[in-house]
Amino acid sequence: MSAPAARAAELRAQIDEANRNYHVLDAPTISDETYDAALRELRDLEDAHPDLATPESPTQRVGGAPSSDFSPYPHGVPMLSLSNVFDESDLRAFDARVAKLAGEPATYVCELKIDGLAMSLRYEGGVLRSAGTRGDGTTGEDVTGNVRTVRDVPRTLRGAPQTIDVRGEIYLRKSAFAALNASRTAAGLPSFANPRNTAAGGLRQKDPRLTAERKLSFFAYAIGAFAGAEPPATQVELLAALRAYGVPVNEHATACATIDDVLAFCRRWEDERATLDYEIDGVVIKVDSLALQAKLGYAGKDPRWATAFKFRAQEARTKLLDIGINVSRSGKLNPYAILDPVGIGGVTVKMATLHNADDIARKDIRPGDTVIVHRAGDVIPYVVGPVLELRPKKTAPYAMPLACPVCGSPVERPEGDVFSYCTNVACPAQVTERIRHWCTRGAMDIEGVGDALSAALVEAGLCANVADLYDLDAEKLATLPRMGDRTVSNVLGELERSKTRGLARVLAALGIRYVGGQNAALLAGEFGTIDELAVASRERLAETDGIGPQIAESVAFFFARESNRDVVRRLAERGLDLTAPLHPKEPVGVLAGKTFVITGTLPSLSREEATALIVDAGGKVSGSVSKKTSYVVAGEEAGSKLAKAQTLGIEIVDEAGLRALL
Ligand code: IVH
Repeated sequence: MSAPAARAAELRAQIDEANRNYHVLDAPTISDETYDAALRELRDLEDAHPDLATPESPTQRVGGAPSSDFSPYPHGVPMLSLSNVFDESDLRAFDARVAKLAGEPATYVCELKIDGLAMSLRYEGGVLRSAGTRGDGTTGEDVTGNVRTVRDVPRTLRGAPQTIDVRGEIYLRKSAFAALNASRTAAGLPSFANPRNTAAGGLRQKDPRLTAERKLSFFAYAIGAFAGAEPPATQVELLAALRAYGVPVNEHATACATIDDVLAFCRRWEDERATLDYEIDGVVIKVDSLALQAKLGYAGKDPRWATAFKFRAQEARTKLLDIGINVSRSGKLNPYAILDPVGIGGVTVKMATLHNADDIARKDIRPGDTVIVHRAGDVIPYVVGPVLELRPKKTAPYAMPLACPVCGSPVERPEGDVFSYCTNVACPAQVTERIRHWCTRGAMDIEGVGDALSAALVEAGLCANVADLYDLDAEKLATLPRMGDRTVSNVLGELERSKTRGLARVLAALGIRYVGGQNAALLAGEFGTIDELAVASRERLAETDGIGPQIAESVAFFFARESNRDVVRRLAERGLDLTAPLHPKEPVGVLAGKTFVITGTLPSLSREEATALIVDAGGKVSGSVSKKTSYVVAGEEAGSKLAKAQTLGIEIVDEAGLRALL
């Protein structure tokens, strides 16, 4: 062997080994720099000595020559589709049918149903020869050049039979999708709608270098042709064999002895799907024994030995009728989508958030568009993006209004901010929101003053700020709609009781930017009275443990405004307690010394309310999970924080568990 040939072989071995460790064993052995350097050296060698280049070379992953159109890819062993089940009773019916045909109860393997594209990889003598899409199941498209760019797809297998089709899913990780969209946005390119379509588009590129840029991944879960060795006897053995050859197999595949175990697996992953770095749309349930699979056979294109438990949809298409604007208590203009009502996962969705003007522009969302709406659990539905093929003619890009839609005052967009703000502090929308916020459970906890009454008070001219609440009397309240004697006296009683809540609650209720329950408690403990706090400099504020410069700036800004100081003065005159125990060295309360992280949506408490309860009981609330976290309070659709808590072994409680601690 010539010296360059020997060096090329050495480099290929090193890179293949690194790929295997990185993608299959999940344990990188060399740094990215070393990896890139080896790849670069190999590419240079192959460029200088073209006779050394082989189709199996790892350099072929990152851009071979552009191919022309895709040729047909016949599947010797057809690639099947799957029947679907949607609920427990469908699933039990599937199990009953299997048991009846088999003559005995079957055991199963449950696998995550990866939302990507099915792919068949042909290896001969352990070397990747070709790759094809599923197509109609009998004939797909030859995308070999593109699939060679996927780092998860091994160029060579260890100890594989002479001929094997490795089948599985090509997909795009959520993190890779986010990174790709971030770089497209930076380059002024439109972002992609979802990982699946991006993966599909990536595989259909004529130039493999473009496929390579999408950083696709692969999980194997089946075999097609298999010759030259003893085939596995069960799906469990099949997955283990694929793993041993060096192919990535999803780690969550689980053998289940009973259909109850299968159901538990499905429910668990329907709940925890958000914790994964890839999208799944269900669970695939397969009879474990391959002999039994053969006996059960097919019904048309679908195997009788497998089915897909489909999760409830999280996305739907509908018409964007218009874009509405909500004005928050800080004057922030929040755009939202007014939708042609559409059912998603069992709920009718009429509105969805559009985040901010930048987001609308980046996605180029226009009224009149057909849009994709995403709704997961109790998270606020949002618009993923428009379906460009369905865009009507004569639409124009959306522009945020230049005047407040509520009071008509000019709006302002501070530099570096993605939001626009109404510049009128007396804007009725802002005042209503401030009053409503003042009365919420996490703030002054005034029952009976919600959306409707806040708006009515502002509209009737009875309240221009929160201090006016304490000038209300029975006569004034009785002029408002739906205010009977009983309601009036309840509201007045609630207002009276709220006067003794103390400084921490008042600070949280004033709606100072960045000052929620936790920061309010820190500031109250540091300064003791609102007068001390109001005159503190930014520097003095930032000396408070846990208060950073951004919060200090916001507090100073709030008290610098004459109108805010006036409200505080009047609150004092009306007899509100604006003091707090100074430096409670040893926090008192049942949760003293405990740190909480709240994640997901709780059934009946908002995040602010839960924070207020914890802080009232002497506990602390933090934004991120660490070894110092005492408890994670997890609700619906809890994501990565829950996963992190699980790996750190931190105690996890739900809302009921939190209430029990209190
Ligand atoms: S098995 C008979 N296993 O789902 C076996 N499919 O709806 C056929 N898929 O075309 C496929 N994850 O693209 C299987 N763990 C998994 C899967 C999976 C995703 C996709 C695959 C297939 C489709 C069937």
